Amino acid sequence: MKRACVIGWPIEHSRSPLIHGYWLNKYGVSGEYTKVAVHPDEAAAFLSGLADNGFAGCNVTVPLKEIAYKAADRRLPSADAVGAANTVWLENGQVCVENTDTYGFMTHLAQSAPDWQKGSGPAVILGAGGAARAIVHGLQEAGVDHIVVFNRTAERAKALARDFGSSVEAREWDARVDAPAWARLIVNTTTIGMKGEGDLGLDFKSAAKSCVVADIVYVPLETGLLKTAREHGLTAVDGLGMLLHQAVPGFERWFGVRPEVTDDLRARIIADLVGP
Ligand code: ATR
Repeated sequence: MKRACVIGWPIEHSRSPLIHGYWLNKYGVSGEYTKVAVHPDEAAAFLSGLADNGFAGCNVTVPLKEIAYKAADRRLPSADAVGAANTVWLENGQVCVENTDTYGFMTHLAQSAPDWQKGSGPAVILGAGGAARAIVHGLQEAGVDHIVVFNRTAERAKALARDFGSSVEAREWDARVDAPAWARLIVNTTTIGMKGEGDLGLDFKSAAKSCVVADIVYVPLETGLLKTAREHGLTAVDGLGMLLHQAVPGFERWFGVRPEVTDDLRARIIADLVGP
């Protein structure tokens, strides 16, 4: 039986076991996917001991993604671009890592906003953490030639812009309120809106009808940002799709089947998010 897990600190709230458990059952794979609380000080040792402990690999979540990246023997370009890894597998005894957040976001964007196009106009990223980097990387790969990053801590936005080159520009956090007037894609990667807390302060009155608004927050599924965007007739892309799609490559690597993100899986996870 093949085994995989998700590691983080804390790890109780991870939905990954639910997603992978659903697929193991659906595809009749003899496997197991568990969650393991791993303290940051123990993370590198856990990864080098994966094989000895009978694991084919694992997912990595907060706050261990940078540690996993550094501890790896081999890193795919997706992980290099972000400086962090969320998916780990073994190959010829080597610990290999990638970052599937980019794939998860871009796949969900293509499905949920099929009319969005790389050439439609500037993209705006709110936030400058690991998720922002993964999405900037995806947009650059897709050919978007103007990406504007707004972040509360200006230095972090500037560092991101420096790392990704001339198509990425950092602007002051307060200036984000003007973005709906000229942006054609707006992505929130900050924690604002999580559990209904906080407000990004964006108004879409002046937005073009073709502007797409995405949030990586998925609790609640319809964040304040997405609700306002929908009320103005804009296409809103929720954060759950990214979570589901980022899980696909890992499952395929560990269990040998490329799983599908279906409406039924989405409904199962939404039921869990909403609770009894
Ligand atoms: P991740 O790696 O998951 O993207 P992170 O690195 O913790 O997470 O990034 C969280 C983002 O949310 C950051 O851009 C953070 O801004 P700072 O760099 O200034 O910390 C942003 N963020 C969190 N709370 C915020 C708030 N109340 N107002 C504005 N930005 C906030």
